[in-house]
Amino acid sequence: RKGNATKEQILLHNLVQQLPKAIIIGVRKGGTRALLEMLNLHPSVVKASQEIHFFDNDENYAKGIEWYRKKMPFSHPHQITIEKSPAYFITDEVPERIYKMNSSIKLLVIVREPTTRAISDYTQVLEGKERKNKTYYKFEKLAMDANTCEVNTKYKAVRTSIYTKHLERWLKYFPIEQFHIVDGDRLITEPLPELQLVEKFLNLPPRISQYNLYFNATRGFYCLRFNIVFNKCLAGSKGRIHPEVDPSVITKLHKFFHPFNQKFYQITGRTFNWP
Ligand code: A3P
Repeated sequence: RKGNATKEQILLHNLVQQLPKAIIIGVRKGGTRALLEMLNLHPSVVKASQEIHFFDNDENYAKGIEWYRKKMPFSHPHQITIEKSPAYFITDEVPERIYKMNSSIKLLVIVREPTTRAISDYTQVLEGKERKNKTYYKFEKLAMDANTCEVNTKYKAVRTSIYTKHLERWLKYFPIEQFHIVDGDRLITEPLPELQLVEKFLNLPPRISQYNLYFNATRGFYCLRFNIVFNKCLAGSKGRIHPEVDPSVITKLHKFFHPFNQKFYQITGRTFNWP
């Protein structure tokens, strides 16, 4: 089991806190937590457990890069540190700030079919409201403009799913080769091949195997096996049941996202079977 080094271990093994060599920059509800936890199965990867929000939060950013580095876990010098903060993908200031830290950093973006992602995003916000005993609008009301009966492009959950718009901002700073796109829908159903593509992208020897991933029928998801004694599933908040959405609204969203998706495939060179 990795992480939480003791003082003795730090001194004995020359452990260091290193800036990330790769960042999972988004997308919110794409499967960012699953991706980080699964990559952490690799012996050469250490993860920052919490979302650090260094580059998207002005107050944190003002604390400087040493503050950021000190948030990183202890690791062996040969290991690579990875953090994930899904807000990075959609926040205007972030690409330039990351570029200033390390212009050759590797950037991971995990995406899901955009309408599903938007509903997942809505479901998370809804759960937050319900926890505070507040009522909330139905998805249909938020996603559709009442006057035009067209997709409400001001709704954040819709905007976040326009992947190409966000990626294009990033491409002003980083060449496309520095990005790797992960298929979040496939990471749910068949994680290993997606993880193997990431290992390749990160120039890591293939170490994650089928042994490390087992399907948990009760959870309905793959869970992680680190070794004979330690295994874990993601928290219950990952894999929520989505509310049913009016099929005509779904169709409108599919049509709305379609041209943006085409552009996204074109830019990334990765095609998905999205409607
Ligand atoms: P849903 O809650 O819509 O099912 P993020 O970590 O970026 O918030 O993404 C959450 C999503 O990760 C969940 O969305 C879930 O479907 C997906 N996911 C992928 N692999 C998973 C796994 N092994 N266990 C639980 N959730 C997983």
